[in-house]
Amino acid sequence: MGTRIDIAPSILAADFSRLADEIKKVENAGADILHLDVMDGHFVPNITIGPPVVASIRKSTRLLLDVHLMIERPEYYLEDFIRAGADWISVHVEADRHLDRTLNFLKENGVFAGVALNPATPLGSLDEVLHLLDFVLIMTVNPGFGGQKFIPSTLEKIRKLKRLAQSDAYRGRIEVDGGIDAGNVSKVLDAGADVIVAGSAIFGREDAAQALLEMKRISGRYIKIPETV
Ligand code: DX5
Ligand code: ZN
Repeated sequence: MGTRIDIAPSILAADFSRLADEIKKVENAGADILHLDVMDGHFVPNITIGPPVVASIRKSTRLLLDVHLMIERPEYYLEDFIRAGADWISVHVEADRHLDRTLNFLKENGVFAGVALNPATPLGSLDEVLHLLDFVLIMTVNPGFGGQKFIPSTLEKIRKLKRLAQSDAYRGRIEVDGGIDAGNVSKVLDAGADVIVAGSAIFGREDAAQALLEMKRISGRYIKIPETV
């Protein structure tokens, strides 16, 4: 249990022809962070948005922009996404051969720096960079598409990272992404996640604001109120 839990709607399930309106819906309903999925057709078998769209979104919302780079050679594009207004950036460990350099670069540029792990990638791949991480994005589906089914074996990875956080070996946040909805969000919260990405469970619903509020209500039970002295 942490002192803060954030819900990050993913626009992947939104109506892209009315993106500003879609974003306003969740911003007005109290979304904390906006999750933007960048796909290149190489690292994942799908193509989405690039820096120009992120820059346009930046102008239409005050939400923190969490840019999830599902692209090969992410190091070539970091500057573009920073210039476009990304607040958080995650690269995939499977796609970046120079994680230490990437994470230092992000931090030097004032970006909240994260690494994403595919379901088949062990947490141990981050052992040597744990001290540099502001967040780890644990994929709970195989990246590439919205609306997939949550993979239960990823819960153990969330628990492991939570244990590292409890022992102070890791001081960053624990973000989860893929197949999460009001029906299973308690499972990832129980395991230790504190940033919850949800696409179809929010923008795929008739009433996105209501869906977000429901997830915020459930996650509210997991927030520890700090003791006052
Ligand atoms: C999947 C993306 C996710 C996606 C989640 O590759 O990284 O952020 O939008 O969508 P849902 O919540 O529908 O699984
Ligand atoms: Zn994502």
